[in-house]
Amino acid sequence: MEKSRPKVILSAAMTLDGKIATKTGDSKLSSIQDKVRIHKLRSKVDAILVGSNTIKRDDPLLTVRHTKGKNPLRIILDSKANIDQKSQIIKTCKKIPTIIAVSKKASKKNIDKLKKYPLEIIITGNKLVNIKNLLRILSKKKIKTLLVEGGGTVNWEFVKQGLVDEIIITITPYLIGGKNAITLVEGEGFSLIQKATKLKLKKTCRLGNEIVLHYY
Ligand SMILES: NC(=O)c1ccc[n+]([C@@H]2O[C@H](COP(=O)([O-])OP(=O)(O)OC[C@H]3O[C@@H](n4cnc5c(N)ncnc54)[C@H](OP(=O)(O)O)[C@@H]3O)[C@@H](O)[C@H]2O)c1
Repeated sequence: MEKSRPKVILSAAMTLDGKIATKTGDSKLSSIQDKVRIHKLRSKVDAILVGSNTIKRDDPLLTVRHTKGKNPLRIILDSKANIDQKSQIIKTCKKIPTIIAVSKKASKKNIDKLKKYPLEIIITGNKLVNIKNLLRILSKKKIKTLLVEGGGTVNWEFVKQGLVDEIIITITPYLIGGKNAITLVEGEGFSLIQKATKLKLKKTCRLGNEIVLHYY
């Protein structure tokens, strides 16, 4: 029998004070060594997923560049189908398989704009993208491993819904502060530690001035 959802690995580079970007959205935290490690990880998963704000802020390619290996399928959570047509994701979707997951909030106009491109549009959810349903659809497409690369809002949704199987975090040697700087997990949060997600530390690894933590 097919598993109902892919294995989910949440990955991020975080400052010593728990942020994944500065208050202005600068998230260039990883060293070159860490980038190589992340890109090796990307090459081993079937798909990679990020939220629409990460696309707006970082305009990432979400490909494997710092090592040799295959590019994973790219998935963007973009309820309103608002992704910028000049974004790297749209510009490269002819070469790299891409899914834009939208909700029923997306206007026909925006969806029609996206339909001009060689990418797949999945419509699920009333307001935000229905993540559980999306994972079911991905499972049917034989996606067995999914790397969630943020940002904090998307990370919270996966954590809240109990959908995270592994977390791989790089602790980077920065203290950046800022009450509006995005943290690893945003959202409403749990009220009690007892209710919070508790993981098991599997592995730690020192990479120069950084530490990579691997929790299950
Ligand atoms: N250091 C790192 O490793 C790292 C990694 C990634 C990102 N970042 C940083 O994180 C920041 C962005 O984080 P963020 O928290 O603002 O935004 P985000 O998590 O990237 O995106 C959140 C947006 O995704 C869309 N979305 C659609 N369906 C959703 C669902 N079911 N659950 C949650 N979101 C859904 C929503 O926007 P719509 O209504 O438009 O759909 C939501 O506002 C950027 O500054 C980026 O640089 C850092």
